[in-house]
Amino acid sequence: MTKLSKKDVLRADQFKPEEIDLIMETARGYEQALSEGKVLDVMRGKVLSTLFYEPSTRTRLSFETAMLRLGGQVISVAEAKSSSAAKGESLRDTIKTVEGYADVIVLRHPQTGAAQEAAAATNKPILNAGDGAGQHPTQSLLDLYTILKEQGKVDGLTIALAGDLKNGRTVHSLADLLGNYNVNFIFVSPEALRMPVEIVSRLKERGIGITETEDLNEGLRACDVLYMTRIQRERFDDPSEYDRLKDAYVLTRVMLEDAKPGFTIMHPLPRVNEIATDVDSYDGAAYFRQAANGIPIRMALLALVTGNA
Ligand code: CP
Repeated sequence: MTKLSKKDVLRADQFKPEEIDLIMETARGYEQALSEGKVLDVMRGKVLSTLFYEPSTRTRLSFETAMLRLGGQVISVAEAKSSSAAKGESLRDTIKTVEGYADVIVLRHPQTGAAQEAAAATNKPILNAGDGAGQHPTQSLLDLYTILKEQGKVDGLTIALAGDLKNGRTVHSLADLLGNYNVNFIFVSPEALRMPVEIVSRLKERGIGITETEDLNEGLRACDVLYMTRIQRERFDDPSEYDRLKDAYVLTRVMLEDAKPGFTIMHPLPRVNEIATDVDSYDGAAYFRQAANGIPIRMALLALVTGNA
């Protein structure tokens, strides 16, 4: 049993540094085991339920792959309309039902705070796979894992987060998680999509250096890691406001001439327009490697929270 046994994963700022280290170390072990072709069975006889009430490719499929790679089994709701949520069932009642079927539950939901509500309804571990514009803590853990693999360290780095910092749950969680380290942030966004003040305040209280700018080139020139995000169309009430902002930033290959040597480009994906496809062949373009890192990180999380690591 470890410190994470029977814990929920709800927010990126819930983790103590030693818990983050444990997750990274456990993920490295699983990645190594998979690379050696080992067949793992630490979750044999266990069932994961994935409940996805918003669209997903990476998070749902990587959680399900992670469970299968650990020898466990998966039951899945891939969209709200195919579940009894469409008939008006409350989230609490759904979770109290699913706890009778599964050992661990992964939830994606359009409402901020839904994962906390789910966790209050059950003693089974709840993993937040994205709650509206709130948090996406398992993404931030795979993002950290990616930074460590690509850059060899995290302390001392300047990290630019660019795009929809208001509505992007991945950047909220990543900012909170990296607040445990000695990093400097550059937040690049249109004025209307700035990082929420409560997150900026939390980071400043921890002594993290923050520069805010609307200029992507300024961020690009100064950073070691550029984390691009899409403008989150589904969070806009006014479609014309989305149309005004949707192409605020487009990273192109020619822009990379101004980047530092050894620079890394990340993106949680899906991308829409914000990274031109000719960037994909750049050595530092890590976003598909980043998506693959979801497997060992989510294996580690599933095994740790169920006490099976
Ligand atoms: N990064 C991420 O959350 O992707 P999906 O929406 O495809 O799960």
